[in-house]
Amino acid sequence: MLSKMKINNICCIGAGYVGGPTMTVLADKCPNLKVNVVDTNKKRIALWNNKDLSNLPIYEPGLSEIIGRARGKNLFFTSDVEESLKNADMVFISVNTPIKKKGIGAGQACDLRWVEASARQIAKFCTGKTIVVEKSTLPVKTSEVIEEILVSTSKSEKGKEFYVLSNPEFLAEGSAVENLLNPDRVLIGGDNQNAIQILKEIYLNWVKDEKIISTNLWSSELSKLISNAFLAQRISSINTVSAICEETGANIREVSTAVGYDSRIGKNFLQSGPGFGGSCFKKDISNLVYLCNHFELKEVANFWEQVLLINSWQKNRIYRNIVSKLYGNVANKRIAILGASFKANTNDLRESPSIEICKKLIEEEAYLIIHDPQVSQESLELELESPKGWEFQKNINKVFIDVDAIIILTEWEIYKSLDWLKIYPIVRRPSWVFDTRHFIDADKVKKSGFKFWQVGSCND
Ligand code: UDX
Ligand code: UDX
Repeated sequence: MLSKMKINNICCIGAGYVGGPTMTVLADKCPNLKVNVVDTNKKRIALWNNKDLSNLPIYEPGLSEIIGRARGKNLFFTSDVEESLKNADMVFISVNTPIKKKGIGAGQACDLRWVEASARQIAKFCTGKTIVVEKSTLPVKTSEVIEEILVSTSKSEKGKEFYVLSNPEFLAEGSAVENLLNPDRVLIGGDNQNAIQILKEIYLNWVKDEKIISTNLWSSELSKLISNAFLAQRISSINTVSAICEETGANIREVSTAVGYDSRIGKNFLQSGPGFGGSCFKKDISNLVYLCNHFELKEVANFWEQVLLINSWQKNRIYRNIVSKLYGNVANKRIAILGASFKANTNDLRESPSIEICKKLIEEEAYLIIHDPQVSQESLELELESPKGWEFQKNINKVFIDVDAIIILTEWEIYKSLDWLKIYPIVRRPSWVFDTRHFIDADKVKKSGFKFWQVGSCND
């Protein structure tokens, strides 16, 4: 009987931004479980196994310390998918689910080829009873696909039984470890109450009972999309307000603080910036729009699509402002770019507004000196898709020499304490500072001689 099933071995397919930290915390909190994290990318696995913990493939505050404790004891990173699945009682699917580039649903629907491939591997290699947990964010009803693949195998191969659960991740990059240790909630969706209970007991090792919610499969899958859609919608809302502030003399920081004090509204996710990035928001809303159109809910689809349109508008509007302040011409100008990642405290460049703005500037023949405390030259090369028009500068003191403009695109803490009085003498004048995150002290920058533009402020 499933209710008596004891979980000893866990396998997670996908050692990425979600699978890596999630399994690390799980292993650390459940020393009696053996956790194998598998990935087809051997280079990534080698980095997870690197002795030097500063070389892990992803940067997350607090992660390396936990890896140092758990790795090699009950946490293992490996490319041996077959062996890990053979022994697993529970399998997490945590592979990437990017937006389709071609074919039906291109630009909106998720590319599910890796989820399907994972389901086929599970069907082939797992033995006995296995609980399969969707961790990747998936379109509503994907568990049906997974179930169908698994059930068709279990019918033909005696002894194999599969139970599918949805257990979406709600971790935000940069605070993933904290989110995993102290989640607002853990959501488990499924039809089989015993399977739900078994997964719940694992979380009970460190999460309070009242924070673990169970729902049906579809509610769980949909709740993940809706959570991200609501968060992104707040950002688009506040970004529209930033433009009104710039025209009227209101200040976006003051407005969002005043609005956020209303406990019905709340303070979080009211920070105006260069538009939201990251692997999730755009993808999940596109997916929601696709789902609504599929069910012929045109008005609902249009409503959510606006969140994406405003996000593109904000990025474009900021870019146009920058070019216009630089006399409508950036060709051959040296421009310092502060921050490449899509937010602070991560090395992730996916959908980063900074990358989009850099690409446009390179296209207009500007020369960029890009700084970021965690991003690597190699990942920038991949994202920028241009060998020319930029250089990567790790040393912050060498970024500003002879630049015509400095654009702050990611809110890394170190940019707050820059000494503008020392920087001004080494730039080419007149020189601009553009603060797209409304995050540095305007007076200090202006007093040191720079011209200054800040999102959501009345500007020069
Ligand atoms: C996750 C989720 O899974 C995605 O649905 C969510 O929307 C965002 O977060 P993430 O962990 O960020 O994805 O993706 P990524 O860092 O690309 O990691 C996925 C890993 O899965 C990669 O390392 C890839 O090599 C691996 N993979 C992919 C496999 O091991 N096997 C496959 O068949 C496909
Ligand atoms: C998001 C969700 O927060 C998380 O719950 C989900 O599991 C995955 O997607 P993530 O994309 O890692 O997490 O980061 P998040 O902190 O949500 O930031 C997303 C983007 O919005 C970033 O580009 C960030 O700079 C931007 N943002 C966030 C704002 O512009 N203003 C804000 O007030 C908050």
